[in-house]
Formats: sequence, structure tokens, C-alpha cells
Amino acid sequence: MANGRLRVAPESYHPTIESGDVAPTASSTAPHARAARLQDIASAVGTPCYVYDAAVIRAAYATLDAAFGGYPHAIHYALKANSSLAIVRLLQALGSQADANSLGEVDVALRCGFRPDQIVFTGVGKSAAEIDRAVSLGLLAINVESPGELDRIDQRAVAQGVRARVALRVNPDIDAKSHPHISTGLRSNKFGVPIDEAPALFREMAARRGLQPVGAHVHIGSQITTLDPLRQAAEAVVALAHALADEGIALQHLDMGGGLGISYDGSPVVDPSEYVRTLVAATRNSGLQVAIEPGRVLVGPAGVLVTTVVDVKQFPGAKRFVVVDAGMTELMRPALYNAYHRIEPLARRDGDESVVDIVGPICESTDAYARDRAFPPVAVGDLVVVHDVGAYGAAMAHTYLRRPLAPEVLIDGDEWRLIRRRQTLDELLALETE
Ligand code: LLP
Repeated sequence: MANGRLRVAPESYHPTIESGDVAPTASSTAPHARAARLQDIASAVGTPCYVYDAAVIRAAYATLDAAFGGYPHAIHYALKANSSLAIVRLLQALGSQADANSLGEVDVALRCGFRPDQIVFTGVGKSAAEIDRAVSLGLLAINVESPGELDRIDQRAVAQGVRARVALRVNPDIDAKSHPHISTGLRSNKFGVPIDEAPALFREMAARRGLQPVGAHVHIGSQITTLDPLRQAAEAVVALAHALADEGIALQHLDMGGGLGISYDGSPVVDPSEYVRTLVAATRNSGLQVAIEPGRVLVGPAGVLVTTVVDVKQFPGAKRFVVVDAGMTELMRPALYNAYHRIEPLARRDGDESVVDIVGPICESTDAYARDRAFPPVAVGDLVVVHDVGAYGAAMAHTYLRRPLAPEVLIDGDEWRLIRRRQTLDELLALETE
């Protein structure tokens, strides 16, 4: 494992991170210090590489936690955003709990020190093996997605002689006003059960020998940038909890899901503290514990992807292309959602900006990080930084074209360490026979 101790002062390379109520432990310093550090890391581990700043994650967690103001709560870090072991371990050390969406994520959470009763398990199509193991582990809650799944969990729990703690994932039919590919709270989406069906299903759960209904769960989408849909979803589950309480079904927690957006392009987003205060305001008179499942807001702004310019080309009447050594294999978001990420050269050259497409090396036309973007002059060999990739970057990377997975580095104070080395081609091929 490579380690580095740098001479440069502690710094944040993300100047726009909002620290909310709690000051980040690293403050922004001169751009040359930030560039020197990334340059140093890139020379040590090669590009493309992911680089995360622990201080930014700590500050984001502290902001959410503090905003609850003592109201009973649990922050379940959504591992799907970034389940690299060192990142999950960092969140665990901060006092987070965990939200897992597969058995793999459950096992990563356990390995990183979470107890089973700190883990909620969500998933729209849990396999028999997943249900069996989730039940045997005694997780804090299995979030139930359908009447059929309710039945399957009950059967497995009865067979194991236990009562599984379950929460019902309700679909409130609320438009999260996010990208359609990451919206989940409309009736037309595959997630959860319609909220008007929920009381009957809670009665059913309460009647089953193998089930203990402990909560209601809602998650209406991701990268949500307005408060209203989140408030409405919270109010809907609180109203449900009151109705259930009137029938004698007492829940323990309301899981409001994740979804809080971050500002990729500088436009306004919901303030994380205001978001939490809104959830608490909606829930307070129920007295129930509030759980949230944030992913992006905790780790997104903490990560950059460092990549090298491998070609610059332009023909008469055609676009100017800056080709970099990272592509949709390392970062899927632009290709999948047309997502915007700030991109800048690590060191600024003299000269005017020109309009370019910044593209990867993959043989797909969707393999572009930016189109028609004003960009300073760059030359082959220059380092380029893609911002806000701590969430859904490395976690969604893949090995198309037999491209080994990129390394990941964690900066902590004035030190950095490799938390995942670059995959080798031999490792990539190790599962195969000729
Ligand atoms: N809880 C559940 C049940 C979820 O499905 C998700 C995200 C989260 C929590 C965390 O949401 P967050 O706080 O990170 O918004 N790949 C997409 C995002 C997909 C999100 C899927 N579910 C992207 O790159 O934007």
C-alpha cells in the first residue's frame, strides 16, 4: 500500500462545500497547494484515479447530525453511493448507521464494523438467499417492497424460528422533480407499495408470526434539489404512522430515505440542515425516531477524478475534442444521466478558453464527460480534474473494454493513502478459463 506524507498544508480541494453548522477540519488554501497534492498523488498512483477528502465527508456528516438538534435519529449511510471499505469505515467511525441494497453491501457494512441492528436492507427484488440471510442476521429492518415479499420474509422467519423486524416501503406518488432515471416515488415507478395500500399491509404484517413491523420507509428519488417533495413524503409517512397508531400498530422509526441533492454546477440546492429540520418538524408530534439514508450528500462533494489528457484534436468545421484517459468505465453519470460535473485542468496554461467536448477513450458516442464546454487550453499529458464524483463514481465503475478498475486515494489531513490499488489485468481475468 502506498502512503504519502505531503509537505503542503491541509486543504480542501472543494471550495464550494457547505459546512453548515460545523466548520470543516480542513479549510481551503491556495490553489497551488491543492494542485501540488493532486499532482503528487497522480504521479504516485497513475491516472485515472479517484481522490477523496476525509475532512469533507466528516463535515457533511456533522452538519446532518447536528441539525437534528437532539431529536432521536439515525443516519444510515447509503452504501450504494460509495462502498469502498475505507469510506464505509470512515462513516462508521463517525457514528453513522448503514443502508444496504444488496447482500454484498450488507456484508461490506458488517466487515466495516456495523452491527446487524444498525443496518437497514432495501431492495426492490430481494432473492431468496438475500431474504434468508437478512432474516438470520437480525437486521434493524428489512424494508418490504411488496405483499409477495412480505409473505416470503414471514415464511423464512418462521422457518428460522425468529421474528424479522420489517418496515414497509411506501410509494407516496410524489414527483421528486429530479432526473426521471433516479426518481422512485411515483406510482409509475417500481418501488414500494402504494401508500393507500399500506394500512392493510401493516395489519397483515402485525398478524404474521414471523414479522415485527417496526417502521415505515419512503424514498422518492435522488439528487432532489427542492424541499417540497421531501417534506410531502415525510408528511405522508407521518400521517400513516398516526393512522396506524390509532389502530394499535406502534412503529419505532420513520425512515425518510435519502435523496438530498448537491450542487454540481453552482445552482442553489436544499440546505442540508434545513432539510433535516423539516423532517424533524414533520415528525416531532409523533415522537418517532427519524431515520435517513443519505448517500450523495455525504460523499459526493468529497471526491474528484484525476485524469490525463491523451489527445486533443480538431478538424475544420468539426468540434474540438479533448480526449482524456478516463471514460464511462470510470464515471458513468454523464453517459447515463447526461449529468453535469465541473471539470478543470489541474494547472492553468496561458491562453483563451475554447469550446470543447471532453470525451473518454471508450468506443461509444455517449462516452463524453462534457459537451460544448468552455475550457482553457490543454495539451497532451496535462492533468484534468472532474469534481463531485465521490458518490456514484467508483461505485458504478466497470471494466468494459477490459479496462481495470481505477485506484482510489483518501486524503486525511496532511496525509493520503491508497485505499484501493489499481486492478491488474490478471485480476480482471482471474475468474475466467480459456
Ligand atoms: N435509499 C434508497 C432506498 C435509495 O434507493 C437511494 C439511492 C438512497 C437511499 C441514497 O440516495 P442519495 O442520498 O444518494 O440520493 N446512480 C445515480 C443515483 C441513484 C440513486 C439510487 N438510490 C446517480 O449517479 O445520480
